[in-house]
Amino acid sequence: MKYLFANWKMYLNHAETLELAQEICAKPYQTERLSIAVFPTMLSAAAVVSIAENSPYQVGAQNCAWVPQGAYTGAVSAVLLKDAGCTYVLIGHSERRHVFGESDTDVKKKFEAALGAGLVPVLCIGETQADKEDGKSQYRLKKQIMKVLEGLDLKGRTFIIAYEPVWAISANRTGLICTPADADDVHGWIRDEIREYTDEIVPILYGGSVDATNVLSYLSYPTIDGVLVGNASRKFDTFAALIDTIGHSEF
Ligand code: PGA
Repeated sequence: MKYLFANWKMYLNHAETLELAQEICAKPYQTERLSIAVFPTMLSAAAVVSIAENSPYQVGAQNCAWVPQGAYTGAVSAVLLKDAGCTYVLIGHSERRHVFGESDTDVKKKFEAALGAGLVPVLCIGETQADKEDGKSQYRLKKQIMKVLEGLDLKGRTFIIAYEPVWAISANRTGLICTPADADDVHGWIRDEIREYTDEIVPILYGGSVDATNVLSYLSYPTIDGVLVGNASRKFDTFAALIDTIGHSEF
């Protein structure tokens, strides 16, 4: 089973989101080989859940608040997202960490809130270009994993890790590419790290400039359980090309 997760970020307005969701959710795929989820904005999440209802497509949110309900102006909690029909939530995406200043402590609280609400958290980790140049990639990833997972009782808990090197995300326009072989190395290392905290099977997705032209080179590695795709998932043609490419492959 491979995962194709589509992070629509804040690229689309409500009408565009619904149109894309309708087109995508009408597209059949082999559910025994692939699991697909779309991550629209909070504004459109509930409407996309309704569109996806009778399809195999799942819906996730891009963020959540850690408190369940109450006087928290502007916040949307994991509990509310679950209630709205979401299955997944991205936790600690690099844009949350680096644009909105979320700390590892914030990320841990959100991760716990997601598990508590019955959502599947997708814990996003990734080193920056500066970390990489300073030879601190493993240090950063180790810390991001430890600060969230340490001390949690993860028995029977379902969660996913997304490795997204910040320098490889298309919107950051560094021109740098994390090759599938490099991603494979990091994924193997992450898998060993995770074993310190849980015996459960934890899928590890890769994210960073994935599109239909390169997706199979990532997914051909057994260490890479799926992909988290931003830019190439926000238009029907490029998203459908990803689904077809994976669908026609030999996995
Ligand atoms: P990208 O984004 O596919 O546009 O590089 C991935 C992400 O930020 O989740």
